[in-house]
Amino acid sequence: YGQLQPISFSIIAHIDHGKSTLADRLLEMTGTIPIGADGQVINKQVLDSLKVERERGITVKSQAVSMIYDDVTTKQKWLLNLIDTPGHVDFAYEVSRSLSACQIALLVVDATQGIQSQTLSVFRVAMARGLRIIPVINKIDLPGASPDAVLDQLHERLGLNVLPGESEEAIMVSAKTGKGVEDVLKRLVAVGSESTQDVGDGQDEKMRSLVFDSWYDSYKGVVALISVKDGAIRKGDKIASAHSRKRYEVLDIGVNSPTAIATGILRKGQVGWVICNMKSVPEASIGDTLHHDKVKVDPLPGFKPSVPMIYCSAFPVSSADFPKLEMAIQKLALNDRSVTWSRESSLALGQGVKLGLLGALHMEIFRARLADEYGMEVLITNPTVAYRIVRPNEDENEAKVITNPLEFPDDEVMRSKRSTKNGLQIQEPMVIGTLTCPEEYLGAMSQLCFDRRGEEIDLIFQDGFGTGEDGKPVGAENAGGERLVIMKHRLPLSEIVTDFFGELKSKTAGFATFDYEDDGWQASDLVRLSFLLTGTPLDALSQIVHRSKAVDVAKVWTQKLKDIVPRQQYEVNIQAMVGGRVVSSEKKTAYRKDVTAGLYGGHYERKLKHLNKQKEGKKRLRAMSVGRVQIPQENFMKLFEAK
Ligand code: GTP
Repeated sequence: YGQLQPISFSIIAHIDHGKSTLADRLLEMTGTIPIGADGQVINKQVLDSLKVERERGITVKSQAVSMIYDDVTTKQKWLLNLIDTPGHVDFAYEVSRSLSACQIALLVVDATQGIQSQTLSVFRVAMARGLRIIPVINKIDLPGASPDAVLDQLHERLGLNVLPGESEEAIMVSAKTGKGVEDVLKRLVAVGSESTQDVGDGQDEKMRSLVFDSWYDSYKGVVALISVKDGAIRKGDKIASAHSRKRYEVLDIGVNSPTAIATGILRKGQVGWVICNMKSVPEASIGDTLHHDKVKVDPLPGFKPSVPMIYCSAFPVSSADFPKLEMAIQKLALNDRSVTWSRESSLALGQGVKLGLLGALHMEIFRARLADEYGMEVLITNPTVAYRIVRPNEDENEAKVITNPLEFPDDEVMRSKRSTKNGLQIQEPMVIGTLTCPEEYLGAMSQLCFDRRGEEIDLIFQDGFGTGEDGKPVGAENAGGERLVIMKHRLPLSEIVTDFFGELKSKTAGFATFDYEDDGWQASDLVRLSFLLTGTPLDALSQIVHRSKAVDVAKVWTQKLKDIVPRQQYEVNIQAMVGGRVVSSEKKTAYRKDVTAGLYGGHYERKLKHLNKQKEGKKRLRAMSVGRVQIPQENFMKLFEAK
């Protein structure tokens, strides 16, 4: 492996356009994974290694697999490194990181669907990273395929020269049947060989390697995935980190093909793993440059650390499990660096952990991993985004960022300051969302965006594609007249992090797709909504909402609270407040009579029995106290689960 000329590439595509199927075919054709008797892959989708990812069919972490391709045209063996990228919008940051280790991106487009929202977003990231693009039109075996319409789109929308003989000639394939896949391998070599320099012997060049992923393996310790940009790195080398200046010795080094194979060396252009005596994963800092010790080099351009998009709090169902929860989160965070966490405590829910995550799907995956891998059932509060509080005459970039609604300034403060010139300003993060759906659902989709405070910035009708009788996108000649539309909206991030995607799917019979990218900050009229139970604040429910929505949201939550608060011996007042004002309230009426009243003066044994019964009840349902009001934790769980 170590001697072979390397070419690194990635496959980028809209969800379901066939990225994993194409990857499997490439691995099979190069003999990296065996082909099953019935032509089916045995080791299906080797790239998706985590359990939750397999279950949901999505790739979260980036992975690298190397394969050897014996090219008869060039009469040379090549080492093709496939760097996998995650497929969901929550993980756009990881896509960018994985692409930094590549020279080429295979842009896969489904011939029956054409360019979709995610095709556009991954294409932009690949261009920004300076990658060569090879367009691959997939699923040409399907009756609804319109490869010519896709060619037009690739040229018109992405500016690619895709016709035969042109610089970015598109390859027609069926990843399912294998047709055209050999051409993909040939083209990878043709394009890759133009930009690959000779691996050389690595003696006369200063070694620089980019760390683009790392994790903890219970047998091997810290494993770092590196892309060697200059020189060569060998087993036994003394190396150093440009970031921390710490020194290490290379204990083992190699490639994944598809399992780990020790090669003793990685040369310029190669991608593989390295194990050195790093004690903890943060030492293998992503974006770091590794170089030979005592050799001065300029660090490679790294990446900005990923920034959490949403924050939420996790509480154990039983407070005695807090240490177990903290340990589980700590371990999961070791292999998922996009998670941030810190301790937090709530008056009502006790000791918990504040989590920073990339989006709603990431939150769901994290919760599933806690349950699957650590047997932890947790209560997770509503997610919130980060807000920026800009003080008068303050540089916006220096402004305080808050992620906890409890740190939000009181509404009175806001109202008084806002009236003065250059007053205190609250800003919220914005995104540009790209949505696609059949024309029929355009109205429903627009309405949803407007309801979420969206502002339309673009609307394109997708020519050459339409929807068939079943509503699914197909080539124009098979369409029932309906076109596909692509719409762009500018939306507040807070409006899309919870149930937006689910609602979009249900309003468009599942046909809409959605992608978003960061679009800076915007000043907004936001308020904090707080909840009180007979005068005692329920801190875990505090949330930040737009003023225009405060009353509606307040009504929903006071009603939810009314449903879960058990009847007490007195009337419970449920209130939602903005500043000092009550914006919604409910009452939970008391039991008609005091149940214990009859016991006083009664038989001693009867009283004892009653007390014991109560004790048992307490053991079963750990109750949380909000002031005088007792709420069983189970009910709290319902509060956050109910959609
Ligand atoms: P994510 O990993 O979820 O992003 O999806 P993906 O892009 O990896 O798509 P995947 O390879 O899982 O393919 C999606 C579906 O399309 C699967 O049901 C495949 O069997 C099917 N498929 C992929 N390629 C072809 C093809 O060339 N022809 C046909 N008919 N179906 C295909």
